[in-house]
Order: sequence, then structure tokens, then C-alpha cells
Amino acid sequence: MLVILKRDNEEVNEQAAQLIAGAIRKKPLLTLGLATGNTMVGLYQHLVRLHQAGWLDFSEVKTFNLDEYLGLPDSHPQSFQHFMHENFFRHVNVSPRNIHIPDGSIRGHYEAYCASYEQSIRAAGGIDLQVLGIGRNGHIGFNEPTSSLASRTRLKVLSRETLDDNAKFFGPEEGPSCAITMGIGTILEARKILLLATGGSKAAAVAKSIEGPITCAVSASALQLHPDVTFVLDEPAAARLAERDYYHRVLQMTSLLTPDRLS
Ligand code: F6R
Repeated sequence: MLVILKRDNEEVNEQAAQLIAGAIRKKPLLTLGLATGNTMVGLYQHLVRLHQAGWLDFSEVKTFNLDEYLGLPDSHPQSFQHFMHENFFRHVNVSPRNIHIPDGSIRGHYEAYCASYEQSIRAAGGIDLQVLGIGRNGHIGFNEPTSSLASRTRLKVLSRETLDDNAKFFGPEEGPSCAITMGIGTILEARKILLLATGGSKAAAVAKSIEGPITCAVSASALQLHPDVTFVLDEPAAARLAERDYYHRVLQMTSLLTPDRLS
């Protein structure tokens, strides 16, 4: 587990964009797992800038999003489909046929649909690089606390904390209470994982995920089981980590000995 400590949000986005761009340059046919949410907005802006400057080509990249709310039409301003198109896809050259986002408009036959989403990940050769944010409660995707660490793509009921966090986006309209999400087991099958966290509201979840016990109470703690995870954190998000000095030293040695891991 590599923990990259950055000063602020801007530096986190820059570092994460560099890692993603490096992965695409090494493997133009990369299969990229993507996330939505506030943390991702700046990252997508960086990737869009790299693309528009002619330094990053997404034409052969395949993408799979982690999750989508159940019951929102694609055109709903809070749907992840809408988020991805507005913040990323419409500004870059990912081919529409290579974009995969769980379909939140399905009614019934959820298990069959979720199994088919997993099947399309497998058919694409599996996810090479999965990008994650983290919820205040430690969720990754919408794997809320108590999710099975072996879970697969499925329908998930949102936790009270997530509903409260979402209330500001939905206003008086009642927000969705369920989502379709890749499972923790699905996420752990990605070859490489990159988790971004910014802001003090994530500090407790980040510390538990990196330094706490592996537990279904903190879904992101399952990432400790993965051999190639990089956390990119700003100072407020890293504030409750006990081993910050060690992570700084590891980072120095990584840039000396295996700089490839940082580009
Ligand atoms: C969304 C997702 C979620 C978010 C998490 C953090 O696709 O997978 O796990 O990454 O809720 O959201 P923000 O960045 O809005 O704090």
C-alpha cells in the first residue's frame, strides 16, 4: 500500500491524473474503473486538460463506473450518468461504445442485470486501474458499512449517513434510497487501485482504512488485502494517520528506487 501525502486538493488531483495518464500511456487499451462525487471533479478537469493539450488519448480506453442510483433517469442532474458526461466524457475522446455505467433505470431482474455488468467487466479483460473515492463512513462505491468483503455487483440500500450527505443535492425532492454498485470483491479484482481523499471530513475513514483492522464496518479497509493500492491524500484527509512520517519516507525511497510507481 503506497500512501502519497499531498498538500491540498489541487496537488491530489494533479498526482492522480499523472498516475492515470501514465497507465494509459503504458497501455492504451486500458480498462479504467471510474467513480463520481465531489472528489472526482478536479481529477476529471486535469484529465480533460491533458487530453485537450494533446497529451492523452482515450480512444482505446474502456471505462466501467462503480455505481449508479436506482430509479433516476439518465438525464436527471444527480444521476452518475449525467455527472460522467458533464464532467468527463463529453470533453474527451472515450468512444461511447466503450463507456459502461450501471443502468439505474432498470425495474426488476436486478440479479441478472448485475451479473451481466460483471460479465462485461470480464469480457473487457478485467479492470486494470480502478479509481475510488471514499465516503465519510468508509464506503467505496456504494458498499456501505457491513457490506460483505466478498460482495459482487448488486443492489444496495444506502445508509443513513449517505442519505444525509445526499440530501443537499436532492433538495426537497426525495433522493434515491438504493443504488447498483460494484461489490468489494469486484473492486478487489482490479489489477491496480487508486483511492483519492480530500478534506477533514474523510480523515477518520481514511485512518481506519489504512491503519485500522480489516472489517466490514469500514469497507475501504478491505483494500489492505490488495497488493497494489495507492492512496493520494491531502493534509486534512491524512490528519488522523499515525504513520505519516513513515509514509513520507517510503515516498522518498519510492521516487529514488521505483519512480515508475509514481508516474
Ligand atoms: C461514487 C462513489 C462513492 C464516492 C464517495 C465520496 O461513484 O463511488 O463511493 O466516491 O461517496 O464522494 P465525495 O467525493 O462526493 O465525497
